[in-house]
Amino acid sequence: MTAHKFPPNFLWGAATASYQIEGAWNEDGKGESIWDNFSHTPGRIEDNSTGDVACDHYHRYADDVTLMRRLGLKAYRFSTAWTRVLPRGSGRVEPRGLAYYDRLIDALLAADIEPFLTLYHWDLPQALQDAGGWSERDTCHAFADYAALMVKRLGDRVKYWTTFNEPSVVAFDGYLMGEHAPGIQDPQVAYQVAHHLMVAHGLAAQAIRAVDSSLNVGIVLNLWPADPASDSPADLAAAELTWQRGEALFPDAIFKGYYPPAVYDLVGDNMPKIQSGDMALIAQRLDYLGVNFYSRNSVSAEGNISPVPGAEYTEMGWEVHAPALRRLLNRLHSDYRLPPIYITENGASFPDVVSPDGKVHDERRLDYLKNHFIQTSLAMQDGVDVRGYFVWSLMDNFEWGHGFTKRFGLVRVDYKTQKRTVKDSGMWYAKVARTNEVSE
Ligand code: FCB
Repeated sequence: MTAHKFPPNFLWGAATASYQIEGAWNEDGKGESIWDNFSHTPGRIEDNSTGDVACDHYHRYADDVTLMRRLGLKAYRFSTAWTRVLPRGSGRVEPRGLAYYDRLIDALLAADIEPFLTLYHWDLPQALQDAGGWSERDTCHAFADYAALMVKRLGDRVKYWTTFNEPSVVAFDGYLMGEHAPGIQDPQVAYQVAHHLMVAHGLAAQAIRAVDSSLNVGIVLNLWPADPASDSPADLAAAELTWQRGEALFPDAIFKGYYPPAVYDLVGDNMPKIQSGDMALIAQRLDYLGVNFYSRNSVSAEGNISPVPGAEYTEMGWEVHAPALRRLLNRLHSDYRLPPIYITENGASFPDVVSPDGKVHDERRLDYLKNHFIQTSLAMQDGVDVRGYFVWSLMDNFEWGHGFTKRFGLVRVDYKTQKRTVKDSGMWYAKVARTNEVSE
């Protein structure tokens, strides 16, 4: 049996997002977000559910923090809902929204859990969307003002500030495929949105540091490595093109200060308007990079291979292939000059069954996590600087367009009673966090 030891200060955590867990969608003065609007539109969500109540975390946060403590979490990644603190995105501040995040953060610190705050996990104020949303440059400035407001209030206690979660999903699922809020399908708008998200990231990083230059500022990117289906030169070239077109866009902008030439070739006239100074603003120094990893693409000259023969798939239809995480981390390490990395999301949805004893024996999730932890440990031995790991997710929650049909939690949530049950994977994770060790 091989034991993989992690460094003593490695941060074992779990992640969530405001819209997926908070509920209380219109309480205490909260304004409408694009996800409130989208989920209230018939036909948008697979099971016709909404995040109106979700895990009711807004009311149950104190118990949920107690649960995190029981799991031995050293860090917790969550997002703040812009419309709770600025109901219309700018202008009037809602003190009850700020007070809520004060309470949550104080509870985390009292439980010795390091808060990692994400400012934008997809719930744009609807009032800003009505004025054009991320296709308008004004939204970038509104975002920077929101960042400054939050840092002034919480920066004395929150040391890790993430601007965006997964800009590519925001731009392409929201404005190209239309499967996410605001449900737009327009390539020209989508690339302009992508660029504006980067500008907003740069402005927010400046705004955060203007309030307190000692804070850690980062961004979270989702990256799907493109593996060649074979060693043939044609497959190798196709895989590399897939990476350049789809994945390199944001890391190239952030860590190199330009968009990949392959994106210009692909997008042509739909390339966004870039103002002078934008790329330097985007490429400013960061204190950490968050990597969200779930799966990979297997690419041949004919296109993506799916399903990969013999491979295991999660309920999302994502291939289970942990070695791709080690390769991804090594590639990022060699392609870019990177700050320390946190794995900010990794996890899996499998059909969970509640046993007669009330327990959830989710061995497949446990194995998935174990194998990904091991690959991370190997990447660290290869020389990649990984400082922490956030499992997606702390608890089952509202999985965007899939509603409540997909469960990713270490903790099961019964949505009728709001009862929480730690799954076997959660118990096992508590041991990993306690011992700092994973055994094969
Ligand atoms: C990521 C999202 C997260 C969750 C997982 C499954 O793309 O950041 O909110 O939906 O996928």
